[in-house]
Amino acid sequence: MVVSAHPEASRIGMEILRKGGNAYDATVATQFALAVAFPVAGNIGGGGFLVYRDHNGQTGTLDYREKAPAAASETMYQDSAGNVIEGLSTDGHLAAGVPGSVDGMVKLHQKLGKLPWAVLVQPAIDLAKQGVVLTEKEAQYLNNTKEAFLRNNKHIPYLAREQAWQAGDTLRHPELAQTLERIRDNGREGFYAGQTADLIAREMERGGGIITKQDLQNYNATWREPIMGKYKGYKVISMGPPSSGGIALVQLLTMMEPYDLGKYGWQSAKSVQLMTEAERRVYADRATYLGDPDFVQTPVQQLLDEAYLKSRMATVDLAKATPSASVKAGALPMHESDQTTHFSIVDQYGNAVSVTTTLNGAYGSKVMVEGAGFLLNNEMDDFSVKPGVPNMFGLVGGKANAIAPNKRMLSSMTPTILEKDGKLYMVVGTPGGSTIITSVFQAILNVVEHGMTMQQAVAAPRFHHQWLPDEIQHEPEAIPADVRAILISKGYKLEERSPYGRVDAILVLPNGKLEAGADPRGDDAAAGF
Ligand code: DON
Repeated sequence: MVVSAHPEASRIGMEILRKGGNAYDATVATQFALAVAFPVAGNIGGGGFLVYRDHNGQTGTLDYREKAPAAASETMYQDSAGNVIEGLSTDGHLAAGVPGSVDGMVKLHQKLGKLPWAVLVQPAIDLAKQGVVLTEKEAQYLNNTKEAFLRNNKHIPYLAREQAWQAGDTLRHPELAQTLERIRDNGREGFYAGQTADLIAREMERGGGIITKQDLQNYNATWREPIMGKYKGYKVISMGPPSSGGIALVQLLTMMEPYDLGKYGWQSAKSVQLMTEAERRVYADRATYLGDPDFVQTPVQQLLDEAYLKSRMATVDLAKATPSASVKAGALPMHESDQTTHFSIVDQYGNAVSVTTTLNGAYGSKVMVEGAGFLLNNEMDDFSVKPGVPNMFGLVGGKANAIAPNKRMLSSMTPTILEKDGKLYMVVGTPGGSTIITSVFQAILNVVEHGMTMQQAVAAPRFHHQWLPDEIQHEPEAIPADVRAILISKGYKLEERSPYGRVDAILVLPNGKLEAGADPRGDDAAAGF
């Protein structure tokens, strides 16, 4: 089964499984298919993280996160007075980190793939040539971004054509098809060297960017140890730094372990309060301690220490909200989140893959590499551009996540796998910037504590607290009115926001059948056999 943000990508992944390919093969095919069918977040110009568990229970993670170019510096988004220059880390050529997706897929295929590489890239090429029929949502995304595409490119990118896009239009990607052909024929070198690298370097010169051919040559996706945790009878396998996701998720689950959330009830005042108080404390840790482990020491053991987490919860008073300012000072505004994408795969052999991949914001930096047909990420905004200054997700950070040459920016992406009784149980993840961690947290609790099906669990409305700003952000129906009143009387600030996140997950049922959860907030779809 493949569950992804786009029906064409799910279909392509599933067809690879049908051909006898394994979950890793299907991952490669789905990643490239999403770059075509879901350009808002699917990518070859971005990066991601992958968590796997094979049929023997062996686990691992692949970090194909973007890196800062060698010419990047700590204050590159500040003016001479030290003020952050609005938009410089989010739009245009300087916002892009060195892309990691292609090297990630190559490394995955070399280690775990079964079918030939070309077979896995070809379906995306065919799709790019033949075109993808736009849904209502996609046409809207494209039209909403037209101005930004024109502002951030010297040429007119084909995604910003003159007349507005409409549902039912076919969007073809001929130049992207050629780039994918070079990747099909030359693997890593098809992207990080030769014509594609030339086109990227030229694009950088044209737009005042700093990614060089040397940066492309130097890029390396990296296998890393997973973050392991447990929650009641479940084992949690998730992504470690440079993502904060796995550590934060395991912290949250460990902090909930002493409580019987199932008994308190879904979205009861007590459940919401306990989850919020844990989230506030976990995001404060994130801002202070986490960064690229190749550059900063991340105190993983200490952060996951049960006694430490218990002591963090000891300051929770159920009579009233803990002000975030007393957890750690600061009060900051919040911006809307954009797009990333997650997909979950389980194959007929029992292997499971959980992948979250991104350009960061919707369509990344909006910079389209002229002649190569793909968008570059704006992942540099995930660094702390200045201590205490919030990024596009309202997240703050300090030294641990400061910009440095070749460093990876801190992420919230949380591709996760759960085991129960030593067997594969759930594959889960989502986009949503800072809300990724709490959405994965809730999807797990919805199944494990509240007895929902996988589909109900991903569809259920969500809420989120990230320490700063000090408020519970919630989807319209996420918290019942009477519970909201109780929370407000205890000093919580509530902020309604539009629906966020696209959780795509797979649950293994006791009879071995797979149950999909495809998030109804998007065009997400499951395909299986
Ligand atoms: O790595 C991160 O945490 C962010 N770049 C993810 C961005 C994201 O999820 C945007 N999608 N809604």
